[in-house]
Amino acid sequence: MSHRILIVGCGSIGERHLRCFQRTGRAELAVCDVNDSLLATVSQRYQVPGFRDVGAALAAGSYDGVVICSPAHTHLGIAVQALRHGAGVLIEKPLSTRIDDVDALRSAVAAAGKFAAVAYVYHFIPGVAAMREFLRGGSLGRPLQVSVVAGQHFPTFRPAYREIYYTRHETGGGAIQDALTHVANAVEWLVGPTGRLCCEAAHQALEGVEVEDTVCVAARNGDVLVSYTLNQFQAPNEVTIQVHCADGSVRYEGHEQRWSVFRRGDSGWTHYAAPVAERDALFVSQAHAFLDGLEGKPTALCTVEEAVQTLKFNLAALESARTGKAMTIP
Ligand SMILES: NC(=O)c1ccc[n+]([C@@H]2O[C@H](COP(=O)([O-])OP(=O)(O)OC[C@H]3O[C@@H](n4cnc5c(N)ncnc54)[C@H](O)[C@@H]3O)[C@@H](O)[C@H]2O)c1
Repeated sequence: MSHRILIVGCGSIGERHLRCFQRTGRAELAVCDVNDSLLATVSQRYQVPGFRDVGAALAAGSYDGVVICSPAHTHLGIAVQALRHGAGVLIEKPLSTRIDDVDALRSAVAAAGKFAAVAYVYHFIPGVAAMREFLRGGSLGRPLQVSVVAGQHFPTFRPAYREIYYTRHETGGGAIQDALTHVANAVEWLVGPTGRLCCEAAHQALEGVEVEDTVCVAARNGDVLVSYTLNQFQAPNEVTIQVHCADGSVRYEGHEQRWSVFRRGDSGWTHYAAPVAERDALFVSQAHAFLDGLEGKPTALCTVEEAVQTLKFNLAALESARTGKAMTIP
């Protein structure tokens, strides 16, 4: 079955979604962007219809799904518009920069009766998904502690970082909302929601911006104690998530493309390869999942409620860093 899909925003991630939805062979695509020259370039490159804004795109046709790839502060308004038009929605991370509009989204999803999900792509990293399945099997006993160590040189991967949403918290910028949110959501997916946290964050290195590029968080997810250390200036592009359980440990190492188990009594880690041939492969899997969701099938996509919880994490981390106080997430 071919689905009519509109991609809103054809910047960095929007173009990737466009390319990856095309690669599923299950979708007929259109794009829109408020930047006329970018819109012309992308619609020509992929031979798809282009519209100057969401209203024009929705007025011109009907869509089964809308993929929202504009900056975070615009996500919920566009999602509500799309749902009212009768489309399902896949919303890029983070869900929003504010909690206020979440109820409007919930009401619009309920009224439309359409599928809605959030594009936290760690759900489609094979090593993370395998580790989650393993943990759910319960053979290592109860998770007790999680440690996350992650970082990369953001200017290498996003040379335009000074000219995009990244420069301001209000538009979804800074390390907390841009990068930490991915691993915070992944940890919540692995061991449950964060209830309390304390965050230190600072601008340490990135030139031309003032938002934080370095973060340390101590958190509590139910009975599990969690620590995060993340920066966006270090040379190595690495992410390690370790979950220590009562009877052993399990670890995901993104840079090694593997996950590993160390049971109590073992003399070393047992490694399992979990290769990702290219970054697009994750987004093709995610696109298939969204199309499955539109067809009413179960998916591994991040749900709206899981993303609301991670939005609360983001906002609590920002507030804790600002005030120096520990925050409770209700
Ligand atoms: N999942 C991931 O790995 C990943 C990676 C990068 C970005 N993102 C997220 O995706 C979103 C976009 O990031 P990006 O890097 O593509 O940014 P970007 O600046 O490269 O692209 C955003 C595009 O949206 C357009 N736009 C802005 N307002 C619009 C509107 N109202 N209607 C239509 N188009 C509009 C802009 O003109 C721009 O072309 C952010 O929320 C970001 O956090 C996710």
